[in-house]
Amino acid sequence: MKKVLFAAIIGLIMVPGVHAAGEFQLSYTCANCHQDRYGEWTRSMHALSVDDPIFQAAYLRALQSDPKYRSFCLTCHSPTTRITDDFNLTKSISVEGITCSFCHTVTGVESNNYTFNPDSPMEGPYTDSKTNAHASSYSALHTKSEFCAGCHEFSINGVPISETYSEWKASPEAAEGEQCQDCHMVTKRGVAATNGTIRDKVYQHFWYGGRTGQFLANAFQINSSIQRTGNRVKVTLVISNNNVGHMIPSGLPSRKVVLDFNATDKQGQGIFSGQKVYAKTIVDQYNNEVLDFWKAVSVAKDNRFKPGESRTEVFEFDARGADEIDIQASLTYQLEAQIITTETQTLNVELATASNRSIISNTEAPQPTAKAPAIGLIGILIAMATAILVFGRKKSQR
Ligand code: HEC
Ligand code: HEC
Ligand code: HEC
Ligand code: HEC
Ligand code: HEC
Repeated sequence: MKKVLFAAIIGLIMVPGVHAAGEFQLSYTCANCHQDRYGEWTRSMHALSVDDPIFQAAYLRALQSDPKYRSFCLTCHSPTTRITDDFNLTKSISVEGITCSFCHTVTGVESNNYTFNPDSPMEGPYTDSKTNAHASSYSALHTKSEFCAGCHEFSINGVPISETYSEWKASPEAAEGEQCQDCHMVTKRGVAATNGTIRDKVYQHFWYGGRTGQFLANAFQINSSIQRTGNRVKVTLVISNNNVGHMIPSGLPSRKVVLDFNATDKQGQGIFSGQKVYAKTIVDQYNNEVLDFWKAVSVAKDNRFKPGESRTEVFEFDARGADEIDIQASLTYQLEAQIITTETQTLNVELATASNRSIISNTEAPQPTAKAPAIGLIGILIAMATAILVFGRKKSQR
């Protein structure tokens, strides 16, 4: 019902596309020749940037607070509207979101502004690309992080909301010349187009990120060490962000990483537990934490993991009465969001499944199940350290 409401408010009407000079080509016109890229893009968040139910719910809330957000949000979520002015999303190309013919007609970017034109040649990474299908042109910009920065870095009312690009710029990865594309558009050998020549590198268009468990798997490492003095137990966890070219989590402040620490005895009775949340927290004028970032007036706190950072967390507790302690620490990636629900709604958000979990363990301790993807919270387990501390048979050291 609410989805219908959304369609009515936004005016989401599908119109069959016809290509003419001055018009953006729909993605399916590329599909015949660029089958692989088309298939990858279709499953990416970029193709969902208008259809994403999490975006739609937020967009409606933003419009309720101020109609000026109609065009503002769409500058990134449906960038062709910058030229077509189709802010009611009546054209199919607008509903395609971040589509082929937007990205591949970009010739420049400055701050949050892209220079692009539907009549440009297809801008891409090759210097020697030729086809009768369209004009092609080499674009160094497309191979660099700056190409992504125009959307993946922005502020509202002076409050920095997404800083993925500047986080990257300050990272060891950037110093080594590793671009966003190197991690998010992993290359393989193959053809760029049907019947094209085999190339060593074609660039996959999946743009996996935080919601893909497999991709998250290598983001963190946890090492643990345990010391015991009398009944006092001190567990030291060293958590490292080694392979990510920006903070974890990055992007919008609705993303969080949660550390859960648990110590139990042989019978499974809880001895001690602790939790830490790593996130950027933004607050409104009443100093309340908000997810609706357009209401933010300042950043209250930011304790996320910087690129290359190793952080030490210490948990200390009394283990009186237990001769064997089972210790578990897990990191869970969470995405807090609201969606519009209906009986018939199908969610297109790509979720990690339990089989995607990465588990670092030095014992065969039972593995906790990943949090069920409930409305409001998407949880993915990203790393875990477990250990069993045996105190010895005799309880003499008490
Ligand atoms: C978010 C922007 C973006 C979107 C959307 C996008 N591309 Fe790309 N594409 C790129 C970038 C960036 C590269 C070059 C990557 C590099 O050099 O590191 C690229 C490379 C390519 C190439 C070069 C050869 C190859 O196969 O790797 C082709 C062809 C291509 N894209 C076609 C498409 C098609 C077709 C679509 C839609 C189905 C599409 N792209 C959607 C950004 C985009
Ligand atoms: C009739 C087939 C055909 C269609 C339709 C087609 N292309 Fe291409 N395209 C090709 C071929 C062939 C190449 C050259 C591949 C190579 O160099 O290996 C190419 C190359 C490219 C490149 C690389 C340019 C460069 O210099 O790096 C991009 C980007 C691209 N196409 C995007 C698109 C997009 C976006 C669409 C849809 C709007 C599209 N193409 C439609 C056949 C096609
Ligand atoms: C026109 C704006 C725009 C450009 C250009 C752009 N992005 Fe995005 N990107 C978005 C938006 C908007 C989303 C989120 C869509 C949604 O969920 O509604 C997104 C999503 C993503 C995600 C998925 C995050 C997740 O939650 O899984 C990754 C990864 C990503 N982009 C990387 C890139 C990279 C790398 C580039 C440059 C090659 C790039 N983007 C270029 C706007 C853009
Ligand atoms: C060295 C590899 C690497 C580089 C370079 C890199 N990323 Fe990422 N990115 C990752 C990994 C791994 C994740 C998943 C971990 C995480 O959630 O941060 C990720 C997550 C993301 C997300 C989802 C937000 C999040 O943190 O969950 C976005 C959006 C994104 N990257 C965009 C970018 C953009 C834009 C650039 C360039 C400015 C970039 N990335 C550079 C590896 C990289
Ligand atoms: C300057 C570009 C830009 C503008 C303007 C923008 N966004 Fe986004 N948005 C992004 C990018 C990039 C992402 C990718 C995820 C991330 O970085 O966390 C995103 C992700 C989102 C998400 C999370 C989607 C998901 O499934 O995780 C929501 C919700 C969202 N945007 C809502 C909005 C609303 C509402 C507005 C207008 C008030 C807006 N955005 C304006 C770039 C933009």
